Amino acid sequence: MVDKKNGYAEIAIFYFSGTGNTWWVSEELIRQFTKLGRSARAYSIETISVGEASDLIFNSEIIGFGYPIHGSDLPKPMKDFISQLPEASGKKAFVFCTQWLWSGDGAAVGGTMLHDKGFNVLWGEHFLMPNNVTVSIISLPYTNDYNRLAGVLGRAARRAAFLAEEINAGRASLRGFNQVSFYLGSMQRVPFRKVYHKLRNDIGIDYDNCIDCGECVRLCPVDNFYYEDEVIKTKGKCVLCLRCYNFCPVAAIKHMDRPHLHGRGEPYKGPVKDFDPTVLIEKKEQKV
Ligand SMILES: Cc1cc2nc3c(=O)[nH]c(=O)nc-3n(C[C@H](O)[C@H](O)[C@H](O)COP(=O)(O)O)c2cc1C
Repeated sequence: MVDKKNGYAEIAIFYFSGTGNTWWVSEELIRQFTKLGRSARAYSIETISVGEASDLIFNSEIIGFGYPIHGSDLPKPMKDFISQLPEASGKKAFVFCTQWLWSGDGAAVGGTMLHDKGFNVLWGEHFLMPNNVTVSIISLPYTNDYNRLAGVLGRAARRAAFLAEEINAGRASLRGFNQVSFYLGSMQRVPFRKVYHKLRNDIGIDYDNCIDCGECVRLCPVDNFYYEDEVIKTKGKCVLCLRCYNFCPVAAIKHMDRPHLHGRGEPYKGPVKDFDPTVLIEKKEQKV
């Protein structure tokens, strides 16, 4: 039984977000839970220690986990975070992923890891969100037109309302937790995992355009950037979240040695106008 007087929210959400989409869904879930009269709070996993997370897990009734899909898989920071958590002793949990188009079993992949950690995973959901892959080599369509994004976000908000209601009612609902989805997800995940380590060294600096503002150094979730003799360099341990690429103020991050195609406009800047990725790295008070 959770002691509501101890100041912890009933529902704690841990999320990783490269460029803001998963942050947005987490905050939308908080709004929906609040409407239903439940106290909920979301934490970027970049801002809490394992000890603090364990404390929140112990003191909250239900735990949520959210992440963007990378090749039908979890981003490395989320995998690392889950693997460091202590045994959850049957704590109720929900898991969600954000994706541009499709992942197969995106929520179930994290769900399996959480189940192995002792969580009782009762809910899994997929949220379609804007594409954040803006690198030149693939040239996938993306937009920073917030009128066009409004429809996508509206649908995601309705799905968040649905998930919050199912959780509130205690009705289990697990999207993509089946053999067909697993098989389809694996078709993308298995090759992606094979090339992942090679891809980790693909981010670089376009020194012709870099203004040396240090945003990439400040924002990177895994400290892939560092200064050497006053020049920004990379360590080859990128986790492919694209935060540096998308939020460099002058789009001076290169991918596979290719600078951003400036003719396509700025890289994706997050789901809301003037989104500031600082929210993903700034600590907030643990209790409500
Ligand atoms: C390396 C990488 C791989 C991705 N793979 C997929 C994918 O397999 N399927 C998909 O629908 N979206 C994929 N995406 C798009 C993101 O999952 C999607 O835009 C997500 O909402 C981004 O969330 P974030 O802003 O919280 O990082 C990929 C993005 C990246 C950076």
